Amino acid sequence: MKKPASSRRPPKAWRGEISSVLISRAQLARRVGVLARQIEKDFAGRDLVIVAILNGTVIFLADLLRGLSLPLRLDFIGISSYGAGTESGELVFTKELRLDVKGRDVLLVDDILDTGRTLARVAAKLQALQPRRIKICVLLDKPDRRVERIAADYTGFTIPNEFVVGYGLDYAEKYRNLPFIGLLHPDIAREVKNAANER
Ligand code: IMP
Ligand code: MG
Repeated sequence: MKKPASSRRPPKAWRGEISSVLISRAQLARRVGVLARQIEKDFAGRDLVIVAILNGTVIFLADLLRGLSLPLRLDFIGISSYGAGTESGELVFTKELRLDVKGRDVLLVDDILDTGRTLARVAAKLQALQPRRIKICVLLDKPDRRVERIAADYTGFTIPNEFVVGYGLDYAEKYRNLPFIGLLHPDIAREVKNAANER
């Protein structure tokens, strides 16, 4: 993932808030294409239901879906942690699954696997609905912060323990619309740390 420093500079409009581009738009597009081809191969001929976790997956999911040329159904689960939150505190379901997944192959999609609490909780809830199998796909993995025993079957990028935004990921609901994954400016990142420590 090494790139020349000049290309890690965020576009002008974001320079005040984003200190650098961690994963560029082109890198994202390439990697999402590779993931789609793997998923296509692994789920060919299966009765596939994609279950995406709101809201962080929106952009990743839209790109991934367009890369998948196989029949599938799509549904969403909403889960949020209470408080302003950059990390999962108390988890609350905000949107329940509507589709029947019993006996079907589920691909659970999330933006980032961090402590693993969110995906562990959602996977357990889905497991109770008796799907044939559940596979997990995440755009990003931050293994350093894991507290749950959970791993993804498909991972876009493994990243260091830094707070990232963009391509669907937010800080306080902002920055989801950046077309790249960026690192927050140190002053804003400090706010993230303080908010996490207060809880
Ligand atoms: P986990 O439950 O700790 O694995 O956290 C998963 C959720 O925390 C993700 O779906 C994100 O909403 C949020 N999260 C964790 N790390 C980051 C980050 O670096 N940027 C933005 N959101 C993050
Ligand atoms: Mg999220």
